[in-house]
Amino acid sequence: MSSLSGQHILLGVSGGIAAYKSCELVRLLRRAGAEVRVVMTRGATGFVTPLSFQALSGNPVRCELFDPEAEAGMGHIELARWADKVVIAPASADLLARLALGLADDLLATLCLATTAPIAVAPAMNRVMWEHPATAAHVESLRGRGVTILGPAEGEQACGEEGPGRMVEPQAIIDHLAAIPGPLEGVRVLVTAGPTREALDPVRFLGNRSSGRMGYALAEAARDAGAVVTLVSGPVALPAPQGVETVRVEDARQMHEAVMARIGGVDLFIAAAAVADYRPKAPAADKIKKTHEGLTVELVRNPDILAEVAALQEGPFTVGFAAETSDLEAHAREKLERKGCDLVVANRVGEGLAFDQEENEVLLLWRGGSEHLPRQPKRALARQLIERIARRYAQD
Ligand code: CTP
Repeated sequence: MSSLSGQHILLGVSGGIAAYKSCELVRLLRRAGAEVRVVMTRGATGFVTPLSFQALSGNPVRCELFDPEAEAGMGHIELARWADKVVIAPASADLLARLALGLADDLLATLCLATTAPIAVAPAMNRVMWEHPATAAHVESLRGRGVTILGPAEGEQACGEEGPGRMVEPQAIIDHLAAIPGPLEGVRVLVTAGPTREALDPVRFLGNRSSGRMGYALAEAARDAGAVVTLVSGPVALPAPQGVETVRVEDARQMHEAVMARIGGVDLFIAAAAVADYRPKAPAADKIKKTHEGLTVELVRNPDILAEVAALQEGPFTVGFAAETSDLEAHAREKLERKGCDLVVANRVGEGLAFDQEENEVLLLWRGGSEHLPRQPKRALARQLIERIARRYAQD
């Protein structure tokens, strides 16, 4: 799988004849499996129309900072958060200067201030402008802040001169973006997902409404962030994610066994499964017949997988889920302490919330802090969660 597969690439295009080459860049990025959103400066629209980039990227193109209609869809801060990587190609002398100064005088410059994603720029301009001490100082300042400067290449220029200032070729930009390590590069992640089914007899079970969507989305987002992912899944209707080792289990004890057999060497454990706390003590060997008016089933406790993993000596960084119907924060904090995990993702359940839904909103809690992630599709939420988890994991 390409390392750009599933990645969110924000492409900034500033004014310059090389803007036409960025059309090819969008095509190549999409072919590599990336999702691309294009932001153009006003100058750029004089060279290539937003419509071209819209058709190539499959997403609306943004040009204005104060565009009420666009902001109603994905606001500029959301767009800045959306990006896994930012690349500006071509980057004009003017844009480099504005970035170096930290100006926020248009959408693209504002996004560069508001994002935590790595930024790369591919300068393109007349050679004298490139060699001007002002430009050189801005480039140095950007480099010092961790911005990658790609090129420029040398050669014949659109203005008829010869020298440095040509934008590097789109393939070189792709190669650079693909080589940037993700926030979980090489981290070994184990995710549990879905419900468990606790057998009552050979045909009946105790179960719950978990669809597995959140856990699967987390496994995919961790994979896209560079992790080596194993998914231990209860029975769900979802296909195994590509590039993720998927182990299917039925009940809590099988899930427990599958997790404990693989936990050695795992760096990060995410317990997204809705594991049954109890199972029938003695499941019937044959189908239970309705011979009595009532039926009493004795239940016994299942092993608590999360608590056991969190208690391991030199165990992984652990992330638990808390599904609560009331007092979300208080109950979730209590769970954080009781289970001894490093992070808890808490959400409200009941009344059509969370379970078996396309969207969710959560409260992320750790010792000493919390963050609310607003209601959104589970895939988008999973990406945000993985970004936050990666940050806390790195600080651990
Ligand atoms: N969990 C687990 N093994 C279990 C039970 C739960 O790994 N046998 C994990 C879940 O995957 C989830 C967290 O623990 O990450 C949820 O904790 P749990 O105690 O099940 O919480 P609730 O059932 O939501 O709450 P409680 O039982 O405290 O009412």
